Amino acid sequence: MSAINYSEKIPNNVNLSEDKTLQRALEHWQPNYLQWWSDLGPDGSQNFDVYLRTAVSVEPQGWAQFGHVKMPDYRWGIFLNPKEEGRQVNFGEHKGEAAWQDVPGEHRANLRRIIVTQGDTEPASVEQQRHLGLTAPSQYDLRNLFQVNVEEGRHLWAMVYLLHKYFGRDGREEADAMLERHSGDADNPRILGAFNEKTPDWLSFYMFTYFTDRDGKFQLCALAESGFDPLARTTKFMLTEEAHHMFVGESGVSRVIARTCEVMNQLKTDDPAKIRAAGVIDLPTIQRYLNFHFSVTIDLFGADESSNAAIFYNSGLKGRFEETKREDDHRLHGRTYKVLGVEKAGSGGQLVEREVPLLNALNEVLRDDYIKDSIGGVNRWNKVIEKAGIPFRLVAPHKAFNRRIGTLAGANVTPQGQVVSTEEWAARHDDWLPSAEDRAFVASLMGRVVDAGKFANWIAPPVMGINRQPIDFDYVRFN
Ligand SMILES: [Fe+2]
Ligand SMILES: [Fe+2]
Repeated sequence: MSAINYSEKIPNNVNLSEDKTLQRALEHWQPNYLQWWSDLGPDGSQNFDVYLRTAVSVEPQGWAQFGHVKMPDYRWGIFLNPKEEGRQVNFGEHKGEAAWQDVPGEHRANLRRIIVTQGDTEPASVEQQRHLGLTAPSQYDLRNLFQVNVEEGRHLWAMVYLLHKYFGRDGREEADAMLERHSGDADNPRILGAFNEKTPDWLSFYMFTYFTDRDGKFQLCALAESGFDPLARTTKFMLTEEAHHMFVGESGVSRVIARTCEVMNQLKTDDPAKIRAAGVIDLPTIQRYLNFHFSVTIDLFGADESSNAAIFYNSGLKGRFEETKREDDHRLHGRTYKVLGVEKAGSGGQLVEREVPLLNALNEVLRDDYIKDSIGGVNRWNKVIEKAGIPFRLVAPHKAFNRRIGTLAGANVTPQGQVVSTEEWAARHDDWLPSAEDRAFVASLMGRVVDAGKFANWIAPPVMGINRQPIDFDYVRFN
């Protein structure tokens, strides 16, 4: 195997060219990563020249370079935000100690678990999205898909860097295992449920990047507060890239809605059958996709009551969203938080609030912060519908709807928050979540559009191009 030219092939600010131990670990891992990319990365696209941004520094101005590259040659780099002198552990029982530059022995296993859980999601989403390139609605969208994919690849690198640098042999084993688990694999699946779901069509992709990449944002924000300084610094830099992923989702859904509304107004109808016959996605179907992605994603925050969440916080490993902006004691003993449960009564039951120790409810706190943030985009989508003069509004479903994790798992709760019987749930399921028929219809619209500046019929063009390029720029050269 030929030696890697580190500074050229792997842009970094971690002094990789001097770090022999890290080089040796990466020398073993990097070929496996490239093999994984060729086996399970974007399908049939290895030879395309794609207009991608590459992270080349951590300077807020000019951190990224844009240019056409073949994805297997993408320069996956390793970047940590600059060190803040005098930074402390800002919460939990170590509050006020100097932030850790090395892994504290007593918290090693938990820290490794946190890093592995985050790292596992990154290649998972690349696997979930690997066939989408075959049905991209435009070059612009294809480029955005690939941008998200290569950056999720880099996020895996970011977590692998921490494992290689700070965890020795078991870190290397965990880094290898992240290339061995696969999304949806019956024997060796990804760690978290939503990352084993399929992303079969572009409406799912936009919903995923809006909702599930936003889960990524909240997890990264919580880790950016970590007392383990290298984790805080690397996740802060990852957030820079994450913003674009959520933009792809929000603007994607928005463009689908805009096109649907345009056709509804042309045809003067709100009949889903007629709207579908015109080759666009009716708003109730968009609502059902939203219900699905919202509910599956909020499960990612974990059980509403969790002793692990308390341990991670107490030990200074994982904070709350915007921990240091909050005005409390950052220890949280003796405080409570309201979580929801279902009280059985008669045929259905009702949702009831319970007070639980705040430290045990930190997953729920992060979930609630996430929900607030994600509703913002739903409101912006409604503005598009409102502007078109159409009396339909999208709504985020109730947080008890369609849950699989925590106290609410398996409760039969409607998107409006009514507890219903198992029979009613079964009878109305297809009103609330995408049916096989909905998915088949959306799939029937998917077909690759390759000409620069052309867009599939079911989606409006974007308002502007990427990096101030025109909309009809050649974002992907197919060769
Ligand atoms: Fe990511
Ligand atoms: Fe992302």
